[in-house]
Parts: sequence; structure tokens; C-alpha cells
Amino acid sequence: MSYDLVIVANRLPVDRVELADGTKGWRTSPGGLVTAIEPVMRANHGVWIGWPGGTDPELEPFESDGMELAPMSMSAQDIEEFYEGFSNGTLWPLYHDLVAKPEFHREWWDSYVRVNERFAEKAASLAAEGATVWVHDYQLQLVPQMLRTLRPDLRIGFYLHIPFPPAELFQQLPWRRQILEGLLGADLVGFQLPGAAQNFVRLVRQRVGHKTHRDLVYLPDGRTVRAAPFPISIDAAGFEEMARSDAVRFRSAEIREALGRPRKVFLGVDRLDYTKGIYARLRAFAELMGEGHIDVEDAVFIQVAVPSREQVEQYRILRDEIERLIGRINGDHGRIGRPAVHYLHSSYPREEMAAMYRAADVMVVTPYRDGMNLVAKEYVACRYEDDGALVLSEFAGAADELRQAWLVNPYDINGMKSALLEAYQADDKEVTRRMKAMRKQVTQHDVKAWAASFMTELSDVGGGHAKDVRAPGGE
Ligand code: G6P
Repeated sequence: MSYDLVIVANRLPVDRVELADGTKGWRTSPGGLVTAIEPVMRANHGVWIGWPGGTDPELEPFESDGMELAPMSMSAQDIEEFYEGFSNGTLWPLYHDLVAKPEFHREWWDSYVRVNERFAEKAASLAAEGATVWVHDYQLQLVPQMLRTLRPDLRIGFYLHIPFPPAELFQQLPWRRQILEGLLGADLVGFQLPGAAQNFVRLVRQRVGHKTHRDLVYLPDGRTVRAAPFPISIDAAGFEEMARSDAVRFRSAEIREALGRPRKVFLGVDRLDYTKGIYARLRAFAELMGEGHIDVEDAVFIQVAVPSREQVEQYRILRDEIERLIGRINGDHGRIGRPAVHYLHSSYPREEMAAMYRAADVMVVTPYRDGMNLVAKEYVACRYEDDGALVLSEFAGAADELRQAWLVNPYDINGMKSALLEAYQADDKEVTRRMKAMRKQVTQHDVKAWAASFMTELSDVGGGHAKDVRAPGGE
């Protein structure tokens, strides 16, 4: 079987899990990537290559919910060295401004090369003549070049979902040149923001020595590679429709009731990750309570922390720190039946998230660095009555588009306290003015538009002989 469109991502849209009765089944995997790619997959006869979690053996492509999926296997060693090691112990902190210290281990790198090779081989075996292959994210940066060597007939796109760091930081990586050359195997390299694309082009010029002009890189073999920003988004209409549904309206009222009908609800929703700034935001909230600006009878904070990368040491340490802090905050400020912070260490279906977004008056998104942050956009999409305040870090990609949020520097605790308080006390008119403008932005730039512009751009730059792939919703 061969396909005109091949999506390659570290994760499949579903995880292989053990069900309550002991049999194996599938569950939607976390992350915004799934909703983003789905429309392109459905518009084409595509296949999605990725890892279903765990160490199950490789399976033949199969159909799930109208999409063809091709599960990749990983050994325990791959998980330790490629996934937890090089992807999440080296690249993740390096690409997020060194929020944590990246570790450089040669065995991790060797494993990264081996696993990237297997992904490239799998893509080469499933792609039809002249097909389009779209490779995703930092775990697979060597795949474009490997794939081009195996299959020069293909049109190859790459998209990085996380930030791409400035040269001063990227330079630390002992394998910096290999990564840049890996990415240059693509015809189009997409980033969240213009600054990331510029960082990349500058590094290619300095470190690889290719000629560049604006967003173009000229390779000695005559190929041209384009590096450009494509800020990712969400299915805004889908979220709004869900938020308007009776079930979600009912559930959101139920949540407020269960909280004891506080006047205001603050909400944080993040993967439990050290880039997200969860600790600092809770501290800011607790100080406001300690100083008497916010009373526990008036307001509560719900913090949803989705379990993530639990075998990586820094994630375990972070979890302990956050849980200790929340214990202290509730001990200091809570009353009987009235904890200051409601902490949920779990992931939830989209409907439940929509109900929480509806129930929240102040949404708090304060990462130290974030490629985009789709939670901020999901909140905006769900606030169809033009109410709700968003406190947003300047260092989230989303801050470029959601200018009307209360923007904060998450390293500045006092600044964050002021913004939380302003958002808490803001009058309805001010909140509505801001939310209206943000809603316009999110509804007009949804994920369909994102995918369509990447695919259109890719067919413009990609090798002249490759077949055209349809953008979602296009003719
Ligand atoms: C971020 C990354 C994705 C990743 C997701 C979940 O959004 O950009 O590539 O899939 O986090 O992380 P995980 O390690 O569980 O795949």
C-alpha cells in the first residue's frame, strides 16, 4: 500500500493502552498536534506514522476513525535514550531557553540517529511516487535529509511545534551541524514565529556556510529551501460549538456549584512541565491571598496538571515541588470545605475542558517559554459571550496574536501579581473589549487556515515533479 500524503510525528493520534478488563485498546493521545493534522489527513488519502506509546511490536497500517495509522515500535532502550534522553533531556530544555539544564550524552545522540533512521525508512516505504511527506517536531529533525537520500522524488515539509532558539543557545549542541543539515532535507521548514525562522536561517549561514537571502537557503546542489513562520491554531468553531452545547453548559454550572459558588474562578491548564511556570503563578496567587487582596470565600484557583514524561527526573522533581507548594497554600489559606487551590493531576476529554473554560473567569497561562500554547486559544474560543479574562505570558507564541490579554513576564512575580489582580478586578466592559478582539483573531485564524497555508506554500516551493496535495477544504 502506498500513499500520496504521509504524516510523520513521534506520536500517533492514539495511544495503545491496557483497558480495565485487561485487553488492549486505543485512547486519544495528548497534545494539540492531533486536531491540527486531522483536517489535512481527511482531505487526502494519507497515512500517519508514529509511536503509540509503550513497547508493543510494529503493526501494519490500519484504519482508526477514518484515518490510516502506521504504528512504529520502540524498545525500552529507544524510550530511555531517544525519547526521554535526547528528545526531552537535551532538545526540549535547549529549545526552551535553558529553563532547565540540557544534558549532552553521546549514547543519546546515537539513539536519536537510529530512531530517526527508522522513521525515515518507514516513510520511504509508504510514500507513493512523487508523494508529499510532512514531518513534525523536534524529535524527528534528521528525518527530512534521511528521507531525501532514500527518496529524492518526494516533496518534504517539516514543521517545528516548539520554539527554535537563538544561535547563542543552539550553538551549545555538539551535533548542531547535523541537526541543521537534517532539517535542510525539507523543501519547506515551518516555525511558529518569524523570529524562530530567522534564527534558523542565520545559523544555516553561519554554521553550514550556505548562501541565504531573506527566508531562502540556496544549497550547492541547486535546491532551494524556504524557512517561514506558520503560527498554529485550533479548531475554533469546533470548540465554540462544544462550549455552547447543553451538556457543557450544564457541566460548567455543576463545576461552579461543586466549588461552592465562588464569585471568581481562576484556571490553569498545562502539561506538568517546567516550561509552563505553574509554580510561580501559584505563588503569585497565594501572595495575593496572604496580603488580603483575594479572599478564599470569593475566589478559587483550579490547576489542571496533565501527567507528562513521568520517567524524566526533572519532571518528577517539579511534581514534588508543585504538590508541596499547593499543600502549603491550602494549609495557610484554606478553610473547611474551601481549599484555595483545587489541584487535578489528570488529563480530561475535550468536553470536560470546554466546561472548565466556561466555568473560569480568569484563565492563567504563564509559561517561561512556549512555542504557541493552544490552551490560551481554546479558552478564547469557548468564551462566546465575550467575557472572561486571559492572563498570558509574553513568552508564549500566542502572545503575538492575543495582544489584548493581560500580558506578563512570568519571571516577575510582582508584575504577575498586579496582572492577576487587575484581571480579577476588571470591569465587565474592559473584559469584553479585550475578549472580543481576541475572539476575532482566533476565529479568523483557525487550524484549517494554518494547515492550508503550509500545504499551499509547500506545493509552491516543493520539487516541480511531485504531485499536488489538497489543502483541507480546498478544491
Ligand atoms: C509538545 C510537543 C509534542 C508532544 C507533546 C506531548 O506539544 O510539541 O511533540 O507530542 O508536547 O509530549 P509527549 O512527550 O507526551 O509526546
